[in-house]
Amino acid sequence: MNMDSIKNDYQAELALVEDAQMLSAFWAKYLGKTGLIQGLMNEIRNIPKEEKKAYGQAVNEVKTWAQGLYDEKKEEIGCKEMAARYEREKVDVTLPAKFTEAGNLHPLTSIKNEMINVFAGMGFDIFEGPEIEDDDHNFTRLNVLKDHPSRDMQDTFWLTEDLLLRTHTSPGQIRVMDAKKPPIKVLVPGKVFRSDSDATHSPMFSQMEGLVVDEHITLCDLQGMLDQFVKALFSDEAKTRLRPSYFPFTEPSVEVDVSCFKCGGKGCSLCKGTGWIEVLGGGIVNNKVLENCNIDSSKYSGLAFGIGIERIAMLKYGINHMGKLFENDIEFLKQFKA
Ligand code: PHE
Repeated sequence: MNMDSIKNDYQAELALVEDAQMLSAFWAKYLGKTGLIQGLMNEIRNIPKEEKKAYGQAVNEVKTWAQGLYDEKKEEIGCKEMAARYEREKVDVTLPAKFTEAGNLHPLTSIKNEMINVFAGMGFDIFEGPEIEDDDHNFTRLNVLKDHPSRDMQDTFWLTEDLLLRTHTSPGQIRVMDAKKPPIKVLVPGKVFRSDSDATHSPMFSQMEGLVVDEHITLCDLQGMLDQFVKALFSDEAKTRLRPSYFPFTEPSVEVDVSCFKCGGKGCSLCKGTGWIEVLGGGIVNNKVLENCNIDSSKYSGLAFGIGIERIAMLKYGINHMGKLFENDIEFLKQFKA
């Protein structure tokens, strides 16, 4: 085949190449090791000696010319394929996005977690007791004896003669002290039940019990811990105040007030002008309760407290009706997004 006809075929065929696959077949036919242009190179052995030089030059020129055209075509196909790919993978950025709404924790769950965090930081463990209790754990061993008027402090849902829905988390104290000897430092969060229902009471609510038993535990330890607690939960300026009270399972017993975090103690509608808000009950574990759990009350003493979680949530978030915390009204709950 002569050079001119190869050149003509080359141009004509290259013009028909449309994609990378055709291009590589074309390359093999003309420019590859066994291709036609290499074939022209090999012809050199049949060329008379004096013409070899001119022939070689001419073939080289054809080769350079062919490579040039090939490179242009390659570039053109590359661009074409890239454009096709862009078209194929095109994203319509004007399409409306799929909207997924993130949920949030229930305010009671967040408050409970916050409370656990504060006390866990002081080294408290967590214990959870059963919601169905017996008379012994819920009352008798907590020194709330049968026929004692203090039983009426809590309106109990009785299930049988002996079984009841626990009226407080304090039976957790008995269960912990039965299972473990001092030093004890434990939190008992959980649901409790009382036959009571109005704006600030609900038949089911939650408490967080705290119990510390060791040598030399005093009321000062209780106040110190609770001071830390109210500072962490309400504000750095928050203070506590202990008022004498009565619980059969603590002696002495106290009601604990926190300085009003709304008015800072000056007196406002939240604290009813007193500057203080009652937040929990507590005291020094009654020796009788320690003895009921076989803990030597001449060696050990304990402190205990019980916090109403809903009450803390209502105070902290300014919720005026306890029912709101149980209605699961999504519009209400959405307000507590962090
Ligand atoms: N159990 C008491 C109540 O429910 C609160 C409390 C707990 C008081 C621990 C003293 C000690 O009212």
